[in-house]
Amino acid sequence: MKQMKRDLRPSVQSRNAVQEAMAIAAAEQRPVRILFVCLGNICRSPAAEGMMRSMAEKAGVELELDSAGFYGGHAGDLPDSRMRSAAFQRGLRLDHRSRTIRPEDFEYFDLIIGMDAQNMRNLRDASPTIETERKILAMADFAIDHPNYDYIPDPYYEGMSGFELVLNLLEDACSQLLKHLKMRE
Ligand code: 4NP
Repeated sequence: MKQMKRDLRPSVQSRNAVQEAMAIAAAEQRPVRILFVCLGNICRSPAAEGMMRSMAEKAGVELELDSAGFYGGHAGDLPDSRMRSAAFQRGLRLDHRSRTIRPEDFEYFDLIIGMDAQNMRNLRDASPTIETERKILAMADFAIDHPNYDYIPDPYYEGMSGFELVLNLLEDACSQLLKHLKMRE
């Protein structure tokens, strides 16, 4: 049973984490570093990375972006061909090479954004400290125009409509994330 998100903006925890990431990056005079995480790192997270890169570039916001997964069976592969073709229809070229998440990612990145509840549990389990755990956010929390989705569903065993749904959710989430990365709250 999905839980309805009622607030038409990301949670206060997510917004605080974005503000904290911006403050740390500004103090170190570097772009905010964001890692998107899913299971295989061939569908959802490389699409999130590519979409965020495209939106940030258009908005003139400098970010350092990467993506990773927990399952290493596709390591070194380009994103799934169904995701690449669905993304290409929306003007996105996805050329990330799949990799698994590494312990040092938790120190290096300012925000670590998971796609579903299993990703979130795996990220929390793998987080070395409480400080790094505070960097872990849920992508669906930013998808405010889709209040009945509290996760980005795995499209791997779905038809093309599953990939379109992921891209719709990611467009919503990326635009909100970018909005909050431009905002001083
Ligand atoms: P992703 O999708 O986590 O969005 O990259 C998946 C890709 C591959 C598999 C599962 C999910 N797999 O089991 O191979």
